[in-house]
Amino acid sequence: MIEIDFSNIKLLSKKERYTTVLKQVDALLESENNVIANLSNIVSLLKNSFEYYLWVGYYLYDADKNNLVLGPFQGSLACTRIEIGKGVCGTSFRDKETIIVDDVNKFPGHIFCDSKSKSEIVVPILNDGKAIGVLDADSDEYASFDEADKIYLEELVMKISNILS
Ligand code: SME
Repeated sequence: MIEIDFSNIKLLSKKERYTTVLKQVDALLESENNVIANLSNIVSLLKNSFEYYLWVGYYLYDADKNNLVLGPFQGSLACTRIEIGKGVCGTSFRDKETIIVDDVNKFPGHIFCDSKSKSEIVVPILNDGKAIGVLDADSDEYASFDEADKIYLEELVMKISNILS
């Protein structure tokens, strides 16, 4: 079992925290290959490393229903399914682009799962250029996510894509 110490995490910058998370993810993946266990621990690492992560989890493509279904997450109860092209998640999945939303009230068609959510980032999970899901993170503050979150989360979803394929 890998012991992860979060006691000093608040002393680190955003970039240092993401670098630490990415190293911890590599260590987790070396020691375990179960998909659910690894997906679950990754969102736990994110939630515990950043105070502004109110909710973080996955929506994964369900080919039978042609929509996105909720995967492992950290946070309160969330919408179970999202249509392709709907909300921030469905739009990011359809366009295969990371979307940063500084104020969720200003994103047309934003789907509210938690009324405390004020800003959001959604990163598509790509496999051979095909979208297979998204990683979604919400914050209870406005404009929490920036270019640094985008860069590191895009690096992280490459590891997630490997887990899922
Ligand atoms: N806000 C998302 C829905 C998922 S929840 O935030 C967990 C959206 O608009 O797609």
